Amino acid sequence: MATWSAPGKVFLFGEHAVVYGKPGVAMAIKPRVTVTVRKHRNPPRVRSPYIEECFRSTGVKGSVYIRSQIPSSSGLGSSAAVTTATLAAISDEFDLGFSRDEIARRAFAIEKKAQRGRASPTDTYVTTFGGIVLITGDSKRRLPPQNLHLVIGNSQISHSTAKMVEHVAKERQHNPDIVDPIMDAIGAVTTQAIKSMNKPQQLGKCMDINHALLDALGVGHPVLSKLVLSSRAAGAFGAKLTGAGGGGCMVALCPKHAKSRVAGAIDAMGARSIITTIDTKGIRKE
Ligand code: MEV
Repeated sequence: MATWSAPGKVFLFGEHAVVYGKPGVAMAIKPRVTVTVRKHRNPPRVRSPYIEECFRSTGVKGSVYIRSQIPSSSGLGSSAAVTTATLAAISDEFDLGFSRDEIARRAFAIEKKAQRGRASPTDTYVTTFGGIVLITGDSKRRLPPQNLHLVIGNSQISHSTAKMVEHVAKERQHNPDIVDPIMDAIGAVTTQAIKSMNKPQQLGKCMDINHALLDALGVGHPVLSKLVLSSRAAGAFGAKLTGAGGGGCMVALCPKHAKSRVAGAIDAMGARSIITTIDTKGIRKE
């Protein structure tokens, strides 16, 4: 029997613009998925496509037990965390000796297959390695860790990353003169944010601008904007939607003392708050 866990993630800056080669910054967060794998000759027949593909691609047979602190389909990377933790537990249980790089690579291929072609390499990388990650084109690099105090607001409004990415692509096709400068501006905000990672006030301002630009791309949602506004009113340095938008989650950067107030403001609007901070470990044996 082998038990491994993997963290969730948030996009701090640059979602959607990363799809067009601009820099993006994502961070692993504390909530985790924990997966136990046990050798089993006759595993259960009905399983999620992610789990099924983990076993099929490694050619082994086993049973799986999953516990999750990450809400699913919320844009916090729960499927990537399940996939990487399952692969790590399979590698451990069956002595396959997968490196972290190999787990991230295999997990991305599995997500791509399970999601019929659209998957985020960011999610599988961040959950495997933990920390703050800068994504530029195909390259990913860990930035120095920062103890950022975050409050996430889960709107619980379902959304589809594929649809939101498609929406932006169509907007860009129809209005390149408007959309391309928005992408450039998001890229500039991300570059500025990278220089301000240890200055929370400036970082918060960058988040506010990034949120407005995502709204301008048409990936906002009235509920997300309400959560963003009430977080700022409750004392956050800044706040923005995170991930694909159209529903899902927003994230607020807070002074330590304002975390509970911001979480209270989010809950009072009918959303679910998660007070969290950086995870620097990535996948981990339990
Ligand atoms: C979704 O979490 C982030 C997007 O930028 C898509 C991606 O990076 O694959 C919208």
